[in-house]
Amino acid sequence: MSAYRQNDINATSAWAKLHQHQRATRHMHMRQLFEADAQRFERFSVELDGLLLDYSKNRITERTLELLVDLAQAADLSGWMTRMRQGEHINVSEDRAVLHTALRLPVEDSLFLDGQDIVPQVHRVLAQMRVFSDNVRNGVWLGYTGKPMTDVVNLGIGGSDLGPLVVTEALAPYSSDQLKVHFVSNVDGQHIARTLRELDPETTLFIVASKSFTTPETLLNAQAARRWLVSHLTEAAVSRHFVAVSCNNTAVRDFGIDPANMFEFWDWVGGRYSVWSAIGLPVMLSIGYTGFSEFLAGAHAMDQHFFGTPFARNIPVLLALLGIWYNTFYRAHTHAIMPYDHGLRRLPAHIQQMDMESNGKRVGRFGEQLDFDTGPVIWGEEGVNSQHAFFQLLHQGTRLVPCDFIVPMNSHYPIDGQHNVLVANCLAQTQALMHGKTETEVLAELAGLPGDELDVLLPQKLFPGNQPSNTIALDKVTPHSIGMLIAMYEHKVFVQGVIWGVNSFDQWGVEYGKQLASRILPQLETGDEKSMQHDCSTKGLIAHYRRRHETD
Ligand code: F6P
Repeated sequence: MSAYRQNDINATSAWAKLHQHQRATRHMHMRQLFEADAQRFERFSVELDGLLLDYSKNRITERTLELLVDLAQAADLSGWMTRMRQGEHINVSEDRAVLHTALRLPVEDSLFLDGQDIVPQVHRVLAQMRVFSDNVRNGVWLGYTGKPMTDVVNLGIGGSDLGPLVVTEALAPYSSDQLKVHFVSNVDGQHIARTLRELDPETTLFIVASKSFTTPETLLNAQAARRWLVSHLTEAAVSRHFVAVSCNNTAVRDFGIDPANMFEFWDWVGGRYSVWSAIGLPVMLSIGYTGFSEFLAGAHAMDQHFFGTPFARNIPVLLALLGIWYNTFYRAHTHAIMPYDHGLRRLPAHIQQMDMESNGKRVGRFGEQLDFDTGPVIWGEEGVNSQHAFFQLLHQGTRLVPCDFIVPMNSHYPIDGQHNVLVANCLAQTQALMHGKTETEVLAELAGLPGDELDVLLPQKLFPGNQPSNTIALDKVTPHSIGMLIAMYEHKVFVQGVIWGVNSFDQWGVEYGKQLASRILPQLETGDEKSMQHDCSTKGLIAHYRRRHETD
């Protein structure tokens, strides 16, 4: 472990120079930077395989980038990239390798982890997924009563839900007409109840997706689904209608799922990075093996770019450094993600888990207290709907909110020029955020207004601008481009974690709430006051629940 120790990043000269630089440049307006440099777009944009990153609308100069790259070097980013890629146990608190990149390696590659080549294992499971998904899609896999499957329900939560959900939704134009994929995650009974209401048990397949196979929400939903199936068919139907994706063979068997119908993955795949593993089974069922292979290939293309490109032209590194510029040196607390694509509307939720569960840490990887901010609050919503909801604050509020705009250049649904309107809106927002509206521009609009009215209206019509944004333009939403996009964010999060010195691959913060919930649950059920070691608010709420809850 000691080999990984590094100097406190905030004690480096790179860090101090960035602070100085921020103080010296903070009054600079992007409008002037654009006026002074007609080549700014060319200078500050990168393209890779049909994915363009335009980062010119940021509060940066060439010098800012140089200093940020120095910071990455001070954090030994190259060393950490090599350690991750080679399978060193960089998840130190759980003593695990972090190898989601191995899940997208081509079959001819090899990667040795603890003396074993893991690439054949990865492709063995991919082959198993292929046979299974082909059989289900082609109507060869039959339910207990001999009917082909029409619906698949993925039962999982967090990383065992969000990744496959987002990718399945995004790639709906590639999906099979014969098979509808549903996702149930919430332990709130209405999620499973409302989903099952629409379904026919004879033609429904359940995937119980849980890395640990101990997550109560998922197991409760799986038991509910199983009761529903058995009540309509029989116990013997379970093996034809339930499959599992997990690292935990024993628990899968104990649940009653045939081990032959289990798709394995490994502890070196973090939940929020697992869509590339068998956790992606709903995606493969929806778009087929070829589409899923293209999705993996897109991610692999991003991996090669990430591992092989100098930092100053490296898309995930640039995004990470820009994020750090605002988060650390401008003290911006949040980062918004706006996909201008209805199919990608849940992407912010996936990136939110990926980023906030990874870098929402207040101690470094060796338990040392950090005295600077780490991961930002990630939020966002699809465009253009978000324009009619919260963009007012972005344009005229008091906060600095760096944004990512994601927009495809081509639509799968070209309806009467609507895509042009969508793209025009996206570009207009980034322009308005950058440029703002000056006093001269507002005065020209309000010409002729009496002085007292002008005094009131003028400040309200001003837009300060200088709000930073990245635009990520995809040629089209395809399995390949979505693979690239998600891998891009994974690497961005990794780079930021390295610079802040946190372990991005554990999530102890989620455990405590789970422990408390398991203590509160029996108290809700029995009301045993003696066992309640709670504050008076929690006790009061338990008592209130017991008074008001109508027992089933
Ligand atoms: O929320 C905590 C978490 O452990 C996530 O990291 C994970 O993606 C999710 O729960 C689901 O875990 P599992 O796949 O083990 O059910």
